[in-house]
Amino acid sequence: MTSAVSIEALTKSYGKLEAVRGISFEIGSGEVFGLLGPNGAGKTTTVEILEGYRKRDGGTVRVLGEDPERAGTEWRQRIGVVLQSSAVYTTLTVREMLALFAGYYRKPRPVDEVIELVGLMEKRNTRIKSLSGGQARRLDLGLALVGDPELIFLDEPTTGFDPGARRAAWATIRALRSLGKTILLTTHYLEEAEQLSDRVAVLREGRIVAHGRPADLMGRSRGAEIRYLRDGEEVVVKTDEPTRTLHELTAQALDAGVELEGLEVRRPTLEDVYLSLTEQDDETVLS
Ligand SMILES: Nc1ncnc2c1ncn2[C@@H]1O[C@H](COP(=O)(O)OP(=O)(O)OP(=O)(O)O)[C@@H](O)[C@H]1O
Ligand SMILES: [Mg+2]
Repeated sequence: MTSAVSIEALTKSYGKLEAVRGISFEIGSGEVFGLLGPNGAGKTTTVEILEGYRKRDGGTVRVLGEDPERAGTEWRQRIGVVLQSSAVYTTLTVREMLALFAGYYRKPRPVDEVIELVGLMEKRNTRIKSLSGGQARRLDLGLALVGDPELIFLDEPTTGFDPGARRAAWATIRALRSLGKTILLTTHYLEEAEQLSDRVAVLREGRIVAHGRPADLMGRSRGAEIRYLRDGEEVVVKTDEPTRTLHELTAQALDAGVELEGLEVRRPTLEDVYLSLTEQDDETVLS
């Protein structure tokens, strides 16, 4: 695997606060990589070091073969960025802003195509200061894509999106992946990470506490929960053998001629795994 991003023993402190405490990972070319973790875990710090917006204290960082602290405009042409907070308050319209940004790139995507991609057709002639929060966030995504970059950093790109817009953004991210783009995504929506990421790393207090494919992280626990209602009360059965347990339960119910109301079998989601990881101490590494 050629790596688009590689980080080795990265550290960064703000005064006494050690925000990033020696993390290492690689992102393969063409991969969607999810960086997860609670508020303050060090995600944005890491991402902004990779983007060349912050200086690191220690460790080695390579992004598209270069050290972001020294990389020049050629390198910047090849990356696209959605910052966690962008403070655009402007009287430019959506279309004008995208056209302005497109002008910075040698091979931009057509502006109208980008507007369509992020679902702002109806707002293309609206001034940015009049956009809603979610619409402004969609513009941020558009600005990251207009240069047709090969590596895209998305720091909580769908925060504030309504459910429809979120699904549309997922489709856009999948389309970018199928074009061979590399994507580093941070998100607090664990379903989003599960749906989109080839691999994820979970950060906690500046350290990686787990990394691997979402399916492998979820597959670590073989357990499942079976739920149903008995006399209106919810019964929860935890089992490591869901097939057998379900068979026994349903056999009993059939014998008794009763319907198991509300029957449901639930596997742990990435969110369940994430919550258990960010509450405990041991390190888990899967790849
Ligand atoms: N410029 C700064 N000066 C001082 N401390 C900072 C600065 N930027 C971040 N921090 C601190 O570093 C830690 C990591 O912050 P960071 O923004 O990387 O977290 P994050 O994982 O992106 O969190 P969130 O999910 O809330 O976006 C936090 O404790 C934060 O308060
Ligand atoms: Mg952040």
